Amino acid sequence: MPSAPISSNPRILVFDSGVGGLSIVHEIQKKLPFAPLIYASDNAFFPYGTKGEAELIARVDAVFRKITAAHPVDIIVIACNTASTLTLPHIRSHFPQPVVGVVPAIKPAAAQSQSQVIGLLATPATVARPYTHNLIREYAPKAEVISVGSSELVQLAEHKLRGGQVTPVQLKKILQPFFNHPRSDEMDVLVLACTHFPLLRDELAAQFSPKVQLIDSGEAIARRVASLLAEHTFDEQPPEHWAIFTKASDAVTALAPQLAQFGIHNTDIIPVE
Ligand code: DGL
Repeated sequence: MPSAPISSNPRILVFDSGVGGLSIVHEIQKKLPFAPLIYASDNAFFPYGTKGEAELIARVDAVFRKITAAHPVDIIVIACNTASTLTLPHIRSHFPQPVVGVVPAIKPAAAQSQSQVIGLLATPATVARPYTHNLIREYAPKAEVISVGSSELVQLAEHKLRGGQVTPVQLKKILQPFFNHPRSDEMDVLVLACTHFPLLRDELAAQFSPKVQLIDSGEAIARRVASLLAEHTFDEQPPEHWAIFTKASDAVTALAPQLAQFGIHNTDIIPVE
């Protein structure tokens, strides 16, 4: 689809199934403090990591249509590895805005790893995607990639963001497949390939030897968004941010203090059938 012109004071849609996209918001706000953000969470269809491919493409399309009709945006950031690794071609060809997707940071991981034993922690869907396998084939052909898919870890990140406790015992159980791998001692880079996981960075880092570097795509995505908007100016005043959810719930209400920490004070509920 031909690109639509970007307006002055451009608005950025940052989209995820849940709260994971807030790790991307954090990176974008460091680079573009005056950019007005529309944070959209498809909480009615959460989690994405267990959903079938055709239903997920149709769902993300429907959600973007409804949200962008109510809140016009200039750029779309799919702040979800599970959605990006599946829906990017469809969304790029059906929406006029530039679309930036978050995909597993395999390329920087392979460049950084001395041992070429790399951990990949993502949702079960992202771990299984042909897109992810192609990234590994293309950018880390000589590496041993130890992949672990967990939806439970996504739930734990949601829990933590609402003030809940995440214990080392819970994490150990989820991460056990890494430690069981015959080459686990050689692993020196762990890719956090789900936007929920940087929200648990410290807790996850504590489970691995200090030589293991945890990397994600957040900073690179923020750089890409900033470069797309390099020619544009923002009003130099506190931007008006919005959080959009596809379902009202107590969990949404419980998120208000965390959203406020990102300067997000306006909330809208847009149900999507
Ligand atoms: N935050 C999403 C990702 O980056 C997925 C969470 C989910 O399973 O809904 O993959």
